[in-house]
Amino acid sequence: MDDGLSSFRLPRAPVAAAAAALAPAALLAGCSGPQSWADTAGVEAEAVARLLWIMVAAAVVIWLLVIGTMLFAARSGPSDPRGRGARGLVIWGGMVAPTVAVLALLVAGLILMRDLTGRTGELTVEATGEQWWWRIAHAAPAGDADAAPVPTPNELRLPVGRTVEMVLRADDVIHSFWVPSLGGKLDMIPGRVNRLHLTPTRTGRFRGACAEFCGEAHAQMALPVVVMQPEAYADWLAGQAAPAAEPADARTRRGRELFLATGCGACHAIRGTAAEGKLGPDLTHVGSRLTIGAGQLPMGRAEMARWIADAGAVKPGVRMPAFDMLPAEEIRLIADYLVSLE
Ligand code: CUA
Repeated sequence: MDDGLSSFRLPRAPVAAAAAALAPAALLAGCSGPQSWADTAGVEAEAVARLLWIMVAAAVVIWLLVIGTMLFAARSGPSDPRGRGARGLVIWGGMVAPTVAVLALLVAGLILMRDLTGRTGELTVEATGEQWWWRIAHAAPAGDADAAPVPTPNELRLPVGRTVEMVLRADDVIHSFWVPSLGGKLDMIPGRVNRLHLTPTRTGRFRGACAEFCGEAHAQMALPVVVMQPEAYADWLAGQAAPAAEPADARTRRGRELFLATGCGACHAIRGTAAEGKLGPDLTHVGSRLTIGAGQLPMGRAEMARWIADAGAVKPGVRMPAFDMLPAEEIRLIADYLVSLE
């Protein structure tokens, strides 16, 4: 009888084995670096990775059992499907085993996920998703309980070894906060407050990303993250809390005049000046950021001038209008002033 299956030929064993061995190696080759769930740098990320490896191991065992059963059936030829063995296989292999496997994985997941909730943070950082940037505000430096949180848009810095409570919100649409090296992913939902804990275990630079499609520049909504020693973090935070430095020379003074005269302060704040805009990122210490435009350009004078002239050319969809009607020298002066704000 030709049932269409008799001509089906399985790949030769050595070829199949080599492919099976190489596939995970190829996939894992991309699993290191500053934005990797597998290259963990935080307690919560380790819990997530552990759960994932348990699930992968269970999936591999189940896959091998299914494939083994299929090969056994293919090689042993037709048999009476009403036999005792067939009924047992359906009951144990098709009903009992999947139920037990899924329940076991659920319990393992619930136990591991306990690590991610139910603890209190030693400090809080607010993060609000915006189209398409991160409004970050760190709790004021210790001993200054009444002070307002310190804005550090588009850059998250954390002290190593401390549990930080991220307070996640959204202003416009749903975004998702995810720093894979440090911990799990959690949506930022308008009208809701979600909380996520991060406990970094080593210093270094990492990269977060928005993990929920939120519009045109979703893929360009990156978040540079720096994990520092606690003393360095305290110094950095104190510096960020201070108002902007006075321009040190005539060039940056002229840049500040142009910044204020051009109307940049309608959207951006520079604490210590008349610029008090709230729509866009606070620029008080913008020169100390690692990147421009939420991870799009490295911080630098030429890059800042390019951003001011036409931000939309770097990041299509960005809400900041182009300022290429200004003379190039005026754009350079504004850029020099901004980059001097460390
Ligand atoms: Cu914000 Cu995707």
